[in-house]
Amino acid sequence: MAVKLETGPLIEVLRNTSRVAVSTGSGISAESGIPTFRGKEGLWKKFRPEELATPTAFSKNPKLVWEWYDWRRGIIAQKKPNPGHKVLTEWEKNFPQFSLITQNIDGLHQKAGSKNILELHGNIWKLRCINEDIITENYDAPLKEIPPLCQDCGALLRPHVVWFGESLSSTILQKAFLLSSQCEVMFVIGTSAVVQPAASLPLAAAQAGAKIVEINPDPTPLTSYSDFSFRGKAGEILPLIDGELKIISRS
Ligand code: APR
Repeated sequence: MAVKLETGPLIEVLRNTSRVAVSTGSGISAESGIPTFRGKEGLWKKFRPEELATPTAFSKNPKLVWEWYDWRRGIIAQKKPNPGHKVLTEWEKNFPQFSLITQNIDGLHQKAGSKNILELHGNIWKLRCINEDIITENYDAPLKEIPPLCQDCGALLRPHVVWFGESLSSTILQKAFLLSSQCEVMFVIGTSAVVQPAASLPLAAAQAGAKIVEINPDPTPLTSYSDFSFRGKAGEILPLIDGELKIISRS
């Protein structure tokens, strides 16, 4: 860490805070070796989302879409949570009211030990029958058959993820906005803040009076709305903030 981060004012706020919400994007998994979507090394630089992450793409060529998800599952299966994920599992235990909302489908928050996670865009380890809507978990990497078929009715299984052009379930959406409007501080970590409705959650939190803390090496459209904005990596900044919190909790 080159520059000393000025965390004092944030720590001052956090020492009197009991309700914290965290919203994460793919950037929190970058230091675990999982590519983001829009960065220079991002997935959308190499692949076209409209060819792989839409219902039309899947109905046109389920095999191609599953080959891409199977490839991503293979990469993710070997990756481990990083210190940024681990701090959030600590905070879930330490703050009286803590909620974790993620756009990520990689399951690394679960792997790190976070328990109560609201997955806005689904989970790459879950499959959904296109006929019965039943969701199953499958951790095979690689998958035994591509495309995978429902054991129950033989129909195609699809990744249980939200594709472009699809909307989130209203239940998840309502829960996400409720959690955002109930917190006193919302951390927004590793997201380019361009995909809705996730990008609106911090604004809902701010409208309800919460302080917004952004952690991102780059500025985003959210930066100007943030009360605190840390330019850096989640895997470095979260442990730093956590370390300062531990110091004051001992004093
Ligand atoms: N720590 C924190 N942030 C980081 C790090 C890091 N080590 N590395 C990169 N970032 C930031 C980037 O600067 C960028 O702002 O993470 C952000 C990643 O942005 P995107 O690639 O757009 O990913 P995300 O915001 O999660 O995308 C949202 O879009 O493609 C869909 O469904 C997909 O859930 C995804 C959604």
